Amino acid sequence: MDLLKKIQSKDARLGVIGLGYVGLPLAVEFARAGFHVVGYDISDEKVAELNAGRSYIPDVPQAHLADVVKSGHFRATTDPGVLGDVDIIDICVPTPLRKTRDPDLSYVVQAVETIRGVLRKGQLIILESTTYPGTTDEVVQPALEESGLKAGCDFYLAFSPERVDPGNPNFNTHNIPKVVGGVNPQSTEAAVAFYSQVIETVVPVSSTRVAEMVKLLENTFRAVNIGLVNELALMSHRMNLDVWEVIDAAKTKPFGFMPFYPGPGLGGHCIPIDPYYLSWKARQSGFEARFIELAGNVNGAMPEYVVDRVAEALNSNQRAVNGSRVHIFGIAYKRDVNDMRESPALDIMELLKRRGAEVSYTDPFVPELRHGTLNLSSIAEADAAKGKDCAVIVTDHSSFDYRAIVERFALIVDTRNALKGEKSPKLFRL
Ligand SMILES: NC(=O)c1ccc[n+]([C@@H]2O[C@H](COP(=O)([O-])OP(=O)(O)OC[C@H]3O[C@@H](n4cnc5c(N)ncnc54)[C@H](O)[C@@H]3O)[C@@H](O)[C@H]2O)c1
Repeated sequence: MDLLKKIQSKDARLGVIGLGYVGLPLAVEFARAGFHVVGYDISDEKVAELNAGRSYIPDVPQAHLADVVKSGHFRATTDPGVLGDVDIIDICVPTPLRKTRDPDLSYVVQAVETIRGVLRKGQLIILESTTYPGTTDEVVQPALEESGLKAGCDFYLAFSPERVDPGNPNFNTHNIPKVVGGVNPQSTEAAVAFYSQVIETVVPVSSTRVAEMVKLLENTFRAVNIGLVNELALMSHRMNLDVWEVIDAAKTKPFGFMPFYPGPGLGGHCIPIDPYYLSWKARQSGFEARFIELAGNVNGAMPEYVVDRVAEALNSNQRAVNGSRVHIFGIAYKRDVNDMRESPALDIMELLKRRGAEVSYTDPFVPELRHGTLNLSSIAEADAAKGKDCAVIVTDHSSFDYRAIVERFALIVDTRNALKGEKSPKLFRL
């Protein structure tokens, strides 16, 4: 296979469609390994920033991007024509939900139509966007074959889920094992050879559908376990038990238990969304995915619960929510990232406003907030307590001075156990 030789000699050229949290780290990793990579994105702004060597994703260090731009191994473009010149195309576009919670494949379909216009013999096309089992062979393959070329013989086609965990200091693109499933053995072989160039462990599976289902199992597993532990938190509060102490003790069991932690609700582009891709697809086969729906209900109600806890805290100081000033610490969806997509902090702030509170926030990763009715700027940590009635720790960024938060605020609602070990009547844990 010509392509295999090109991959092994690093002469294969890579095109990445979608330079976001998934596509950019992948593109830069291959460029650093010596491949020539071109990133195609529809955003002029992102393309300009990246070509200037400026990374907007904390997991892609500025210096790494600047190096590969300078060496000519990476460039970004808004011109889809470049995809005709590459040997491998990796699709990393968003897969959100519609308002009805049905999969929105419009970005994937658009990317595939772009490829169809330039597709040529011998190319390897890989879908990385998270999606339901069947997308690659039911949606992507027929659309590409409208070009007259056949998947598996004229070009190779595979699915490989992305498992990147933004902000994780221990695991990134090169040491997270990569699952790969092709539409035929040759496609799997080509995709395995490709990823093996930069990723330590590549795990081939028998089909694109298995690879698609692997990702949904992983994320559904998390959503369901988080739902379980969130319910346990609500239950423990009612029973006057500290759920955090219970989990800490339970996790001393060396087998058969894995700790999950309660929190203010799900956030990010994956856990709140991906399980619905699976339940939607299961419904097509007449199967009701009950755990997914239940976990979604429990997790989706957490922001409301946090607001109830804020009301309880304020009540302990003879204050009502209406007219109170509540300050939120951390609005990104998780620690030490700048991604606000689906962040529960947004719901919590809107709900507090609806009950008449005045809201403000501090987040070193999100200097400005424009979302729904929220139009705010981050307040410096040292000034945050002035005139405020209550602090809510929604996201436990490691840079926050938690000692100072305890000293400066009259009331604190801690949804992350960031103040572990702290005992004070003004502290309300989830
Ligand atoms: N963010 C994560 O932590 C994560 C982890 C694992 C998997 N995923 C999955 O990876 C996929 C991508 O997620 P992301 O977080 O990188 O999204 P993102 O929004 O950060 O990036 C997507 C990029 O694609 C671009 N784009 C959209 N349509 C395009 C088109 N037709 N042609 C070219 N570019 C286009 C956008 O401008 C954007 O830059 C999703 O399916 C997501 O579920 C994300």
